[in-house]
Amino acid sequence: MIYFPRGVVMAGKKTKTKSIGILTSGGDCPGLNAAIRSVAKTALHEYGMKVIGILDGFRGLVENRTVLMDDKMVSGILTEGGTILGSSRDKPHKMPMGGKKRDMTDVAVENVRRMQIDCLVCLGGGGTQKNAYHLHKKGKIDVLTLPKTIDNDVAETNVTFGFDTALGIATEAIDRLHTTATSHHRIIVCEIMGHRAGWLALGAGIAGGADVILIPEIPYDNAKIAEHLMDRRRSGKRFSIIAVAEGALSKEEDSKNNDPKAPREDLITQKVEKAPDGTEYHLVQETRASKLARDLQRITGIDARVTSLGHVQRGGTPSATDRLLCTRLGTAAARALAEGTYNVMIAVKRGTCVPVPIEKVAGKMKLVPLDHTWIQAARLVGTCLGD
Ligand code: F6P
Repeated sequence: MIYFPRGVVMAGKKTKTKSIGILTSGGDCPGLNAAIRSVAKTALHEYGMKVIGILDGFRGLVENRTVLMDDKMVSGILTEGGTILGSSRDKPHKMPMGGKKRDMTDVAVENVRRMQIDCLVCLGGGGTQKNAYHLHKKGKIDVLTLPKTIDNDVAETNVTFGFDTALGIATEAIDRLHTTATSHHRIIVCEIMGHRAGWLALGAGIAGGADVILIPEIPYDNAKIAEHLMDRRRSGKRFSIIAVAEGALSKEEDSKNNDPKAPREDLITQKVEKAPDGTEYHLVQETRASKLARDLQRITGIDARVTSLGHVQRGGTPSATDRLLCTRLGTAAARALAEGTYNVMIAVKRGTCVPVPIEKVAGKMKLVPLDHTWIQAARLVGTCLGD
C-alpha cells in the first residue's frame, strides 16, 4: 500500500467489494465515530474501496443525502462523541412522510443500486439490525452491520459498543450521588437508560454500590424496597441510593402488561403525539424515578430526591475500551467486506470479532438472564433487587 498526500491511496489488497455505503441509525452513542473511522480507513487504504457516507440513517438513504468519504473526513474523529453522519430512528418500511407512514423500501433499494453500492454497512442497535435485515430480505441488497447501543441488548454478541462508556458515566453519577445523599440522609433515586434490558442499570448499580437496583427483567415490589430502606436506617445507615432502569416495572404494572412485546416506552415515558402538521413527536412524561421516589417517600417517610441521567449517558467522548472495540469491529467489518462476507453482523464472541448471520440477530433482544453472575453478585453483597 502506498500513501500519497492526504486521502489519496494506491490500495494493494484484493477485494470482492468495490464500493460501500455506511450509515448510523437509532439512538447515537459514544464510539460511532470511532467505528466509522475504522471501517472507512481500512476500506479506503487497505482495499481501495469507494466509501459513501449516508446522512441521518435510513432517512438519508431514502432522501438520497450522501457524501463521498475520504481520509480527511474520517481523520481526527476517534475521540469525538455522536456521529459525523447523523442519525435518525426512521425505518425504511414505515417512514413518516408528509404526515403519513409510508413504505419507502423500494426507494431505499433503488438508491443503493443507483449508487452502485455493493454492500450497505449499518451501525446500530436492535432496530437497525431489523431494518438492515428487512432491506436484505425484501429488497435483495447486501448488508453488513455492527452492534451499537449503550443498552448492550443486541442479540448474538457479548457486548455492544457504547455500553462501556455509558457504564462509566452512570457509575460516576452514582458515586457522586453517594456523598450528597449521605450528607442529607436522603434516598436518591437515579434513573438510568434501558427500556427493556437492565444491563446498564445493573452494571452501574453494582459498580457504584447502589443499595437497590431495579431492572426491567425483575418486576419490583414497593413494600420490599421500603422494607430494605427501613432496615438500612435502623442499622444506622441513614441514606440509600436506588439505581432504576427507565423501563423497570412494578409487579402490579407488569401484571397489567399483557402484551410482553408492547414497547415499554409507550407504557412509561414516551407517548407519541402528533403536531398539527402531522409530524410525530414523543411527549415528555413523568420519569420512572420520580414516580418511584414519591411512592417510597409515602411509605417510608424518608426525604427523597431524583436524578435522571438521560442523554448525558450517550454524550461525549468514548472510553478507551469502546475506542478499542470500535477499531477492532470496524477493521473486522472491512476485512469481511473485502472477502465478500455479507448479510452478517460482526459480533464479539469470547473476545473475538466474528460474523453472525443477520437473520439470527434481527428481531431478537439480549436481556439480562435471571441467573446471570451480575445478578448473583448483587444479591450476595446484599443489594435489594426489588423482588
Ligand atoms: O439508544 C438506546 C437508548 O439510549 C435507550 O437506552 C433509551 O431508552 C432510548 O435510546 C432513548 O431514545 P431517544 O434518544 O430517542 O429519546
